[in-house]
Amino acid sequence: MTERRVVITDVGPRDGLQNQQKILSVEERIALVKAIAAAGVPQIEIGSFVSPKAVPAMAATEEVFAGLANAGFTTPTLALIPNMKGYELARAAGAKTVTMVLYASEGMAQENAAMSMAEAEAITLDILALAKQDNVDVIATIAVAFTCPFDGPTEPFIVTRLVNKFLQAGADQVVLADTIGAAHPQQVRDLCTTLVNSHGAERLGCHFHDTRAMGLANVYAALESGIRRFDSSIAGLGGCPFAPGASGNVATDDIAMMLQQMGFDTGIDLKKLMQASDLAQKFTGSAPGGRAKAWLQGSLAKQVS
Ligand code: COA
Ligand code: ZN
Repeated sequence: MTERRVVITDVGPRDGLQNQQKILSVEERIALVKAIAAAGVPQIEIGSFVSPKAVPAMAATEEVFAGLANAGFTTPTLALIPNMKGYELARAAGAKTVTMVLYASEGMAQENAAMSMAEAEAITLDILALAKQDNVDVIATIAVAFTCPFDGPTEPFIVTRLVNKFLQAGADQVVLADTIGAAHPQQVRDLCTTLVNSHGAERLGCHFHDTRAMGLANVYAALESGIRRFDSSIAGLGGCPFAPGASGNVATDDIAMMLQQMGFDTGIDLKKLMQASDLAQKFTGSAPGGRAKAWLQGSLAKQVS
């Protein structure tokens, strides 16, 4: 990956849709994923294998996988899993990359997955061993890497320990998630700089929510620290049903625009991204759209295509 290449993973079809009032049909979920891919987004988290009682919107993720496979879909896709059962379901559905959740606080581990931090770590090690045999990539996402809604601010050493442990254990990537959108850029820069100095940036990523309007500032701080992988959500969809106060992810619309203006290569076509963003808004009725969307649409409309 070159210095100027930034890899965006759109997590809207998972992190976004799991928290909407309206539950989308499998067909709508597939159409949204296709629209995001058509805009050139290189990776998409298309769902999760979690208890359908806990997250009804993510039921039938295996049908989303099947529908995309039938359509000859080629953009790399990810599925979030909380436990071993999730891994088995994801593998059966044909997932090539899974995102397993680790926790930087006991409170979040209990609320989100009814397990301890240590249990999540042990299960992740088991999943890593299986995934090697199955040729499945594993991304370890550290929830509440900056602040937990239950346990308060997260000590950085908790996160650095998890990052060290799981990069050494062979995780393909480790992602720092600001689950409730409480981080500020100074904190992000300090932690990311420490981690990039120790490990390089190739296998590190960040996942920010925009709750306190610091999503883009946090992306910039991470970028300045060398991070080149970011999760974001089409039309700013998002939130976590298990983390009070979490609002949408930083919008793919905004982050793609900022990176393009700064001369980074994301491979994203903003005009087509606006079509995906419109679709997300149409399907959900509640997606806010990127904060620059009105300006972006006006500006793109003036361009000769
Ligand atoms: N996928 C589908 N079903 C699952 C599952 C998975 N990964 N893991 C457990 N289940 C099912 C069990 O089979 C059981 O089903 P049953 O009631 O029909 O017998 C039920 O869920 C409860 O299983 P249990 O092991 O007792 O789990 P729990 O009640 O302690 O819940 C989780 C733990 C992790 C399954 C649940 O809290 C969950 O899915 N949370 C989702 C977390 C999430 O998506 N967070 C947002 C992203 S970070
Ligand atoms: Zn999130």
